[in-house]
Amino acid sequence: MQIQDRVFIVTGASMGIGLATAQALTANGGKIALLARSTEVLGDIAKELPGSLPITVDMTDFIAVRAAIAQVHSHFGQIDGLINNAGCSYGSTIEDIDPKIFDEIYHLNVLAPIVAMQGVIPIMRTQGAGSIVNINSGTAFMTIPSYGVYSSSKRALLGISMTARAELEKDGIVVSEVYPFITATNFGKNRMVNDDGGGPAASYADGDTPEFVAELIVQAIEHGEAQYFANDNLRKLAGQ
Ligand SMILES: NC(=O)c1ccc[n+]([C@@H]2O[C@H](COP(=O)([O-])OP(=O)(O)OC[C@H]3O[C@@H](n4cnc5c(N)ncnc54)[C@H](OP(=O)(O)O)[C@@H]3O)[C@@H](O)[C@H]2O)c1
Repeated sequence: MQIQDRVFIVTGASMGIGLATAQALTANGGKIALLARSTEVLGDIAKELPGSLPITVDMTDFIAVRAAIAQVHSHFGQIDGLINNAGCSYGSTIEDIDPKIFDEIYHLNVLAPIVAMQGVIPIMRTQGAGSIVNINSGTAFMTIPSYGVYSSSKRALLGISMTARAELEKDGIVVSEVYPFITATNFGKNRMVNDDGGGPAASYADGDTPEFVAELIVQAIEHGEAQYFANDNLRKLAGQ
């Protein structure tokens, strides 16, 4: 799908990969609805991105997610793309998993992308085309102690994404996934932890840049292959 003059929803657009994606799509002539919880930050970003629409929404509040999509549709009159990027990790061994945090992670990383897809699919079907890009993680293919909740949530997202891709092909709606490797954002700092603090946050400083991942997302929108990987090792881990 071309990006010029198309309307894209980017979730988690207030920082990191989501912000870099909103910037890249704007640079390519797209119009962006910026979704995240940080109202003030989104307002500042919107001033820098011509034609963008900031919307404060907690992606785990599904009523608010549906309302946000309706607001985007009413504002722009169309929705051509959805980038399901908002996500969070959780550092805990299986033994110590707090069911409440497990639930929050799955609500954000798995159910929120589903609810957002459900919101845009009827609109895209009416338009006859659409692009949905779900941001996954290389950890979906790895076994890493203390990453069980996060990696399994991303593995679930893989199943949902590829099933949706098969279901929606007939409607001209293309579902793709992007697999970042370690990327230099606040992701490690923003992870959820148990009351004991969950140990030191992983440093992501030496990782890929968020702009590099945003470029993969641009490619996914433009070319619509099923999966895009940050490096060949991830591609091999995925069995490709
Ligand atoms: N960084 C990495 O190494 C890495 C590697 C593989 C995959 N990923 C994936 O890439 C995606 C983006 O991660 P990132 O590195 O850019 O992380 P980040 O810097 O922590 O940004 C996360 C974004 O998600 C938003 N967000 C978090 N919880 C939310 C909620 N409940 N409702 C709405 N928005 C919420 C945050 O905004 P607010 O706080 O303003 O709501 C922020 O904009 C995630 O899906 C992550 O799993 C990252």
